[in-house]
Amino acid sequence: MNFVLFLAVLMFLESDAIKLLKLANPIDLTWSFTSNSFYTKNTHPFLLTKQTSRLSEDGTWYAQNEFCTGEHVGTHFNAPYHRNRQGYKVHEIPLKHLIAHGIKVDLRLQTKRLKNKSVLLPQHLEKWVRTHGPIQQYTVLLVQFHWSQYYNNKTLYLGAKNDYELSFPGISKSAAEWIVKTKKIVGVGVDTAAVDKGIYNSEISKKILLDNNVYVLENLNIPAKFPDDNFALYVLPMKIFDGTGAPLRIIAVPEENVTKGVIIAVVPWYTHVVVLTISCLWFYVQVFLRN
Ligand SMILES: *[C@@H]1O[C@H](CO)[C@@H](O)[C@H](O)[C@H]1NC(C)=O
Ligand SMILES: *[C@@H]1O[C@H](CO)[C@@H](O)[C@H](O)[C@H]1NC(C)=O
Ligand SMILES: *[C@@H]1O[C@H](CO)[C@@H](O)[C@H](O)[C@H]1NC(C)=O
Repeated sequence: MNFVLFLAVLMFLESDAIKLLKLANPIDLTWSFTSNSFYTKNTHPFLLTKQTSRLSEDGTWYAQNEFCTGEHVGTHFNAPYHRNRQGYKVHEIPLKHLIAHGIKVDLRLQTKRLKNKSVLLPQHLEKWVRTHGPIQQYTVLLVQFHWSQYYNNKTLYLGAKNDYELSFPGISKSAAEWIVKTKKIVGVGVDTAAVDKGIYNSEISKKILLDNNVYVLENLNIPAKFPDDNFALYVLPMKIFDGTGAPLRIIAVPEENVTKGVIIAVVPWYTHVVVLTISCLWFYVQVFLRN
């Protein structure tokens, strides 16, 4: 009995409980899918049809809908295969690329000044590295232009004069080249309708990313206050077989300092070694010598 208690305490001290506690406050970066979800002129808008919703005579409820949508509508995932014949299709993306480290470059000040002409440049990425340290393997980069605030006003969000002249901030060609050269960034997401500044002008940066098997996330909902570093991203596109893109659910989980972690953090490493050694000896004595 003593032994069981001892093991329980030990398991608590040496377990990953602390790491789990750190995942306490997830943030949803997804816009809900509605008939207002942004879609380009060649795609089918998101359309939800109520098929059934009724209370039957015995008082039980039954509701069911159908939806129809293009792959590239609203908050969505662009698989490399969209513009790269050899690239991953949606169902082929490795899970390591989808559950990944998140980093964010914040362009609040520049966008305030330049509005729809604000672009991500290599110097912004270099500044991020100088401030936060080297980029880790399997990282997803979010670029925050603070454009989500316009999402509910299509005129402001798309800056559209007409279908062919959209204008909003974007990622420059040189920044896209910088990103793929790291060979560590597996995906890039933006809080605008497209990676390139005004999509009908060009898709140069998007093509550079997809050509290098870096996936692209568009129409993200990034809150005004959101960390620049130290968060995990769960990038979960609908697993469409052979998909070129898909509706996306994306959730960020910032790391937080948890006071319950104090015990582990305060106790120095050699205490763990001593505790583990004693417990192994205890186990050996109990199990083998007693027999
Ligand atoms: C969107 O913003 C424009 C410019 O500020 C404004 O004129 C228009 O009324 C807004 N539309 C809606 C639906 O709020
Ligand atoms: C940016 O927005 C301004 C003002 O809304 C507009 O006049 C201009 O044409 C837009 N810029 C581009 C590059 O489309
Ligand atoms: C956690 O604490 C460290 C050290 O006090 C601090 O540098 C860091 O910014 C904190 N992180 C968060 C997410 O609050």
